[in-house]
Amino acid sequence: MYVTTTVEETRQLIKGWKKEGKTVGLVPTMGFLHEGHASLIRRCRQENDIVVVSDFVNPTQFGPNEDLEAYPRDFKRDSDLCESLGTDVIFHPEPKDMYCDPHAYVSIDTLSETLCGKTRPIHFKGVCTVVSKLFNIVAPDRAYFGQKDAQQLAIIRKMVQDLNFDIEIVGCPIIREEDGLAKSSRNTYLNPEERKAALCLSKAVKAGQEMISTGMEAEEVLAKMRAIIGAEPLARIDYVSMVDALTMQPVDKVEKDVLTAMAVYIGKTRLIDNFIYEV
Ligand code: PAF
Repeated sequence: MYVTTTVEETRQLIKGWKKEGKTVGLVPTMGFLHEGHASLIRRCRQENDIVVVSDFVNPTQFGPNEDLEAYPRDFKRDSDLCESLGTDVIFHPEPKDMYCDPHAYVSIDTLSETLCGKTRPIHFKGVCTVVSKLFNIVAPDRAYFGQKDAQQLAIIRKMVQDLNFDIEIVGCPIIREEDGLAKSSRNTYLNPEERKAALCLSKAVKAGQEMISTGMEAEEVLAKMRAIIGAEPLARIDYVSMVDALTMQPVDKVEKDVLTAMAVYIGKTRLIDNFIYEV
């Protein structure tokens, strides 16, 4: 497995493989890898000749009062896991290798203005910028993203369409702990009491899925989900919303495929979870 840190060495390696006609898959990550990332890497391994994992805590997607400095990092553990999963290259740049000052941004506005984009106004601009850069550096045939970040996945699909990137975007299912909590690098912030309290998210998801499948109205489903989370004293709701699964715009009727998504603070930790209901 190669560990690269600069744009140029990463490009040269991949160009060589592309000349031999090999297909390339990319798994973009911010490191501190868990079973959710492992599932993306395994899928990428199955579907491509070459597997590239990027491991970069991207500063442009963090707001001024967010957890950029505290974001968990453990490159040795990440690279051991990647190697065990048959990764060919980990691209692990420093911010100075990725950004000059000032630099260009990419943004996909309308989809970025609801859900997480309301609370984190610059977040998706940073995500679209770094993902575009990674797409231009790696030039993958396919790129793999988790459904846990459902709004991110929808925005990246739209970006690829709007900006004509010739890349297949593969969305992969949410991976959960045995008790239902969606896997996330931020789960490590939770103390034991908060870890228990965090189960209110997956409980609300499960209840929401059941209610929506009985044909219950959107507002009633959301009210009951909010009540489940509200019953947990350590939880503070950022949002629990239902949006069109493609446009990310709010819906009050379940007529097309809908995304029901939530962000909830457990103590100081902001967690997200969601489900899609296909009509
Ligand atoms: O989902 C993530 O971990 C990040 O948002 C991504 C896609 C790697 C961009 O930094």
